[in-house]
Amino acid sequence: MIRQATAEACANIALVKYWGKRDAVLNLPATGSLSLTLSGLVTRTTVTWAEDPGDDAILLDGKPAAGAERQRIVTFLDLVREGMQASGASDRPGAPRASVESVNGFPRAAGLASSASGFAALALASTRAAGLELADEQLSVLARRGSGSACRSIFGGFVEWLPGSAADGQDSHAVPLLAPEAWDVRMLVAVLAERPKPKGSTDAMNHTVATSPYFEAWRACVPGDLDIARQAIASRDLARLGELAESNALRMHATMLAARPPVLYWLPETVAAMRRVRELRDAGMACWFTIDAGPNVKVLCDAAFEAAVITGLSDLPGVLRVISSRPGPGARLVPALVSS
Ligand code: DP6
Repeated sequence: MIRQATAEACANIALVKYWGKRDAVLNLPATGSLSLTLSGLVTRTTVTWAEDPGDDAILLDGKPAAGAERQRIVTFLDLVREGMQASGASDRPGAPRASVESVNGFPRAAGLASSASGFAALALASTRAAGLELADEQLSVLARRGSGSACRSIFGGFVEWLPGSAADGQDSHAVPLLAPEAWDVRMLVAVLAERPKPKGSTDAMNHTVATSPYFEAWRACVPGDLDIARQAIASRDLARLGELAESNALRMHATMLAARPPVLYWLPETVAAMRRVRELRDAGMACWFTIDAGPNVKVLCDAAFEAAVITGLSDLPGVLRVISSRPGPGARLVPALVSS
């Protein structure tokens, strides 16, 4: 029997960052975090389960996955296989075999949160194809095992990841804070590099926890930042949210700069883009930057200034393109593509 499902999920960009785990195997975070799911950065994934023996077949943007990237996906599929055994959907140990085809509408592993959209889409497609119907919070728990930030991409709009306290991580999942259509803001991604980054976020955050003397200070300031962000979202106060997001991102980068050896994701163009955002703001445009584990700069802005801020960023040398997003939807099932 062939069982197939296709799902789409959008990337999310954190305004209060997840940086540090209390359990690296279960991807349990040291703190909560808060993000915006983005309409413009979408991953579409089809999963087919078959009972015949053999290895999982995994295609990412048309190429077979290899090495650690492949292993991370197989390990995730093993969790779904466990769920299938437990529910009686499959009774052969080690079976069934998955075929996964995933297509990103944006550069992978360049700090554009492809692991978030990727594992959110994979969580939904793989469970539905298996005949398992998980509630959104359970889907978020599962997606978290693939990549922490993926738990937030299960939901649309503004989303908070509750860190939870249970040892098994069952209470560590995202919850929606504000629906995508409830606040018309923009997130612009100034793409400065499309190559995979030299150090992945998993390694970089574990290294920060292990060696940065600033990590404890970071952990201590996140709950207060979450309070401010929640209030700013509830009152639709973009200036308060933007200032907070900028400060929170710089604090995260300060913790990794203080690690030994240091983790520095910024390029000269990254700093130039940060300065440009400040200039645009001084000229009266409501815009604020945030930066993740890569050189690209993301800019939260008022919809009214979208075109002007895109022009201001595109003018900078080194900006390859600017991707504009609105608040996007949560992970959802879509009709399968007709295979070519
Ligand atoms: C800087 O979710 O990629 O984007 O859980 O190890 O897969 P793993 O890490 P990941 O880290 C995201 C880090 C960040 C901040 C954020 O999205 O909150």
